[in-house]
Amino acid sequence: MKANILKLLLQSHADGDETSFRKAALQLAAAESSAGHTRIADEIRTVIGQMPAVASRKTASPVVDIAAPRGDLADILEGGHRDERLRDIVLRSEVRDLLLRVISENRSPGLLERFGVSPRRRLLFHGVPGCGKTLAASVLAGEMGLPLMTVRFDALFSRFLGSTAIQLRVIFAEMPRRPGVYLFDEFDSVAKARGDSQDVGEMNRVVTAFLQLVDADVSGSILVAATNHVELLDRAMFRRFDVIVPFEKPTREQLVDLLELRLSTLGLTPEHADNLAAHAEGWSFADVARACDDAVRTMALDDRHKISKCDVAQALDELKRRELPAAR
Ligand SMILES: Nc1ncnc2c1ncn2[C@@H]1O[C@H](COP(=O)(O)OP(=O)(O)OP(=O)(O)O)[C@@H](O)[C@H]1O
Ligand SMILES: [Mg+2]
Repeated sequence: MKANILKLLLQSHADGDETSFRKAALQLAAAESSAGHTRIADEIRTVIGQMPAVASRKTASPVVDIAAPRGDLADILEGGHRDERLRDIVLRSEVRDLLLRVISENRSPGLLERFGVSPRRRLLFHGVPGCGKTLAASVLAGEMGLPLMTVRFDALFSRFLGSTAIQLRVIFAEMPRRPGVYLFDEFDSVAKARGDSQDVGEMNRVVTAFLQLVDADVSGSILVAATNHVELLDRAMFRRFDVIVPFEKPTREQLVDLLELRLSTLGLTPEHADNLAAHAEGWSFADVARACDDAVRTMALDDRHKISKCDVAQALDELKRRELPAAR
């Protein structure tokens, strides 16, 4: 374990990746503290505390997000730091508790490793579109101070047909070098492609490679797979995940929460939110969020600073009339 951290320290130093360097140093402190060496752990933390802030060390201009992948990887991996937090997402309380728990486990791996267990870090998010799977991955990254690295799975197949398995290896090789939340979005495209493709052999190779790479991964990075079609995943895939989280369409109460989350700072009252939620039953979170943005646009163009119930009702009605019937 400690050897891995030291490797990460050296690698991040060699890469000039300050964020990973700090993270590795903190992991080292946690490992020492778990081993009962509290004094040395404190000393390491003191040294980290004395390091200049990352921003003040940047000399190059323009400012580059050091989490952003470069070179070959830039084609298939999109990365960056995230500002989203748990307060920005409406979740059922069980799901919120589960994510909080996963965050705590990953913040203190040393506490678990003392007893031979490790943090759960392979998560499968599934459910209907627009209900928070991608957002929840951003929240995990934001809460943990890690970059969100999105792997565009569908792009991986279309661009690298014939060498997809090799590209997957490149991504997994990145995971220990660059700690992050790795989101494999459109995860079902592996399974779908296996069904549709002429080259079934290629897809089988990709699935086998993925399973092997997941099994071999001891990077400490968090892996999130997101899919709208969980029924397409086979058992072997399913077994690889420690945590499986369903994302469903919002209940009436969650619609109220979303309207308040989005618009209470602009003056929308709880009564109005409750009333408006009735107009949006059966919608996804994403549709309601779009209507909220439309309502804010109307308010802003009118040069007002307070939103009215009417702005929101109109935006909901318009979206329903224009787009939603076709989408269903
Ligand atoms: N649970 C939620 N709480 C608050 N906002 C949400 C929630 N779910 C979705 N949204 C809003 O809708 C947008 C789109 O959601 P998101 O991309 O997370 O959906 P998704 O489940 O990943 O959909 P898809 O299956 O199409 O990828 C978010 O950026 C956010 O504005
Ligand atoms: Mg998504």
